[in-house]
Amino acid sequence: MSLLGLGSFLLLLLGLTGAAPPSFSVDYQNDCFRKDGEKFRYISGSIHYSRIPRAYWKDRLLKMYMAGLNAIQTYIPWNFHEDSPGSYDFSGDRDLEYFLQLAQDIGLLVILRPGPYICAEWDMGGLPAWLLHKQDIVLRSSDPDYIAAVDSWMGKLLPMMKPFLYQNGGPIISVQVENEYGSYFACDYNYMRHLYKLMRFYLGEEVVLFTTDGASLGFLKCGAIQGVYATVDFGPGSNVSAAFATQRHAEPYGPLVNSEYYTGWLDHWGSPHSAVSTKDVVVTLNEILAMGANVNLYMFIGGTNFGYWNGANSPYAAQPTSYDYNAPLTEAGDLTEKYFAIREVIKMYRKIPEGLIPPSSPKFAYGSVKMQQLQTVSEALETISFSGPVESLFPQTFIDLNQAFGYVFYRTKLPVNCSTPTPLASPLNGVHDRAYVSVDGVASGILERGKVLSINVTGKAGSQVDILVENMGRINYGKGINDFKGLVSNLTLDNVALTGWTMYSLGIDQAVNQGLLWEMKPTSSGPLPPSVLSLPAFYGGTFIIPDGIPDLPQDTYISMPKWHKGQVWINGFNLGRYWPTRGPQLTLYVPASILTTDAPNNVTVLELEAAPCLSGPCTVEFTTTPIVNATVHSEHRHV
Ligand SMILES: *[C@@H]1O[C@H](CO)[C@@H](O)[C@H](O)[C@H]1NC(C)=O
Ligand SMILES: *[C@@H]1O[C@H](CO)[C@@H](O)[C@H](O)[C@H]1NC(C)=O
Ligand SMILES: *[C@@H]1O[C@H](CO)[C@@H](O)[C@H](O)[C@H]1NC(C)=O
Ligand SMILES: *[C@@H]1O[C@H](CO)[C@@H](O)[C@H](O)[C@H]1NC(C)=O
Ligand SMILES: *[C@@H]1O[C@H](CO)[C@@H](O)[C@H](O)[C@H]1NC(C)=O
Ligand SMILES: *[C@@H]1O[C@H](CO)[C@@H](O)[C@H](O)[C@H]1NC(C)=O
Repeated sequence: MSLLGLGSFLLLLLGLTGAAPPSFSVDYQNDCFRKDGEKFRYISGSIHYSRIPRAYWKDRLLKMYMAGLNAIQTYIPWNFHEDSPGSYDFSGDRDLEYFLQLAQDIGLLVILRPGPYICAEWDMGGLPAWLLHKQDIVLRSSDPDYIAAVDSWMGKLLPMMKPFLYQNGGPIISVQVENEYGSYFACDYNYMRHLYKLMRFYLGEEVVLFTTDGASLGFLKCGAIQGVYATVDFGPGSNVSAAFATQRHAEPYGPLVNSEYYTGWLDHWGSPHSAVSTKDVVVTLNEILAMGANVNLYMFIGGTNFGYWNGANSPYAAQPTSYDYNAPLTEAGDLTEKYFAIREVIKMYRKIPEGLIPPSSPKFAYGSVKMQQLQTVSEALETISFSGPVESLFPQTFIDLNQAFGYVFYRTKLPVNCSTPTPLASPLNGVHDRAYVSVDGVASGILERGKVLSINVTGKAGSQVDILVENMGRINYGKGINDFKGLVSNLTLDNVALTGWTMYSLGIDQAVNQGLLWEMKPTSSGPLPPSVLSLPAFYGGTFIIPDGIPDLPQDTYISMPKWHKGQVWINGFNLGRYWPTRGPQLTLYVPASILTTDAPNNVTVLELEAAPCLSGPCTVEFTTTPIVNATVHSEHRHV
């Protein structure tokens, strides 16, 4: 049967049973959405499946439903699903279809934001780092190489989404085109029109497509395009009627929509935790709802930047591991007073579900775990560098070495005697983002993007210089999203470029997962010379979930007192970065879903600066209380 034939056959069937097919549309005459013919208003909340372990999706969605929401909004991070061109992953924590099905089963509609760019305080705003193989690519524009990659990604993703459209019996009522495009310098209408056509081609003529921009005419100028419904975003304390008047400038008729109403705000390492008062959130929310407007609360639950997924802003400032966002549900999905206050406001505008709200999850303090030093990164090179070294005159970037995330190890020699302190520098600010430098196996300093561009070293000509470079997360907003990592310009010694580099691309996650680090003998080196810094090194410890206590394992938080900066894994799962000396986050969320009662649980730590182990007790702690709001002053704090 031809597609046309199938269509009329279905229409005939529907005609016979008398049921109208599901429909969702913009009603321009009555300034509202219309769902199955009825006037409809959504009260939605943002949840990013990529920031929550799959085992908890249902719990979080149910809590959102019980708050009185009738929809959720989610981003699709492209780089979470296509780690190299044409290699797709939609399994486990990336099982988007399962997430959409859960939302629908619970009774929530879905507002889908497939990008391709999403911002979201997510590495590179969701764009895959491999796009940077074309060095001068203009992202988010009609650049043909960018468009070709977008076309093949959307050609994979959108057909998967089509059965989930409301018209096709699924939960998706609308789909966003790009993301706050009016805030980007390129202002490329051809690019936006191309995305529009692509979405229409794969999703059909019926689905509601929309754009979102800041509530000012300047943003709408490059963000809104013909044929795509323009919406705005703004937070508590805004002049609601003025903000919607701005939307009316682009859309004289149709529903009022705030696509991102901020319940909290993002954080950066080294800056105070952002908090927005419950009172401010509910007052403006009430004004929005009183106007009959549609709203999406961003975030309703923030979740966690596990692994290396956090983004950064410029001038370079990376976001921490927690994406708690001061949202109504905490990072761990716990209910807050903000949750209940929002629920009370929603109750005034729609009937909210009855029944029990799922409670906050219990937390357990597994206590203190003794850690022992394994090998240093330099000792472990053979084990953690799977592809072998690359040699070149000048340093190469992560992308040159085909590595997207984590750490790359650079090695060269001092070409001259440095008997007095000699500056080792990155005059073009090309350490992206932090370099842990040692000379002949002694830690000698840290270079940091935008903050520390020069350190002094001493040593004889021919001394080995080892530099571990950390990618702390790609810029996710603005012009700086072409964010190359590693040593992206030459390092100089006494103003002369260093040459003759050997570079090791590191697969630390793979090594941790295969238990390779644990099989190695602890380091054989004797006591290290006293120093404020130690070499980047691995540490391991185990803990057992106690017997005889019901319902274990439970969620917990890992705290790293006296540790400085690094990365931590439990049973091979990368929990993210810790940096208690910079703050404001002091504890990392540990979901119970990664713990086991069948065997000892393995904790692996990569400490980059200085472990407490050399000078005293060497432990990590599991506690029941999260701390994401400590004010920590750092010696490196710059304004
Ligand atoms: C809010 O904006 C409206 C329309 O622009 C304006 O008339 C009103 O005075 C503003 N209210 C406040 C409190 O600034
Ligand atoms: C470095 O100093 C040593 C003596 O301390 C000398 O033998 C050597 O030639 C010097 N090397 C260079 C490259 O200047
Ligand atoms: C490097 O050493 C020189 C000479 O001792 C000194 O003047 C300078 O302040 C030092 N620089 C740093 C970054 O420590
Ligand atoms: C390093 O300097 C050399 C010589 O000036 C130059 O050719 C090269 O492009 C530079 N490399 C980087 C990564 O900046
Ligand atoms: C912990 O690491 C050991 C050694 O690699 C491994 O045999 C064991 O399976 C790991 N335990 C868990 C729970 O992953
Ligand atoms: C951090 O948050 C906790 C829990 O909300 C609160 O009790 C505490 O006062 C806050 N601390 C700071 C320094 O803001």
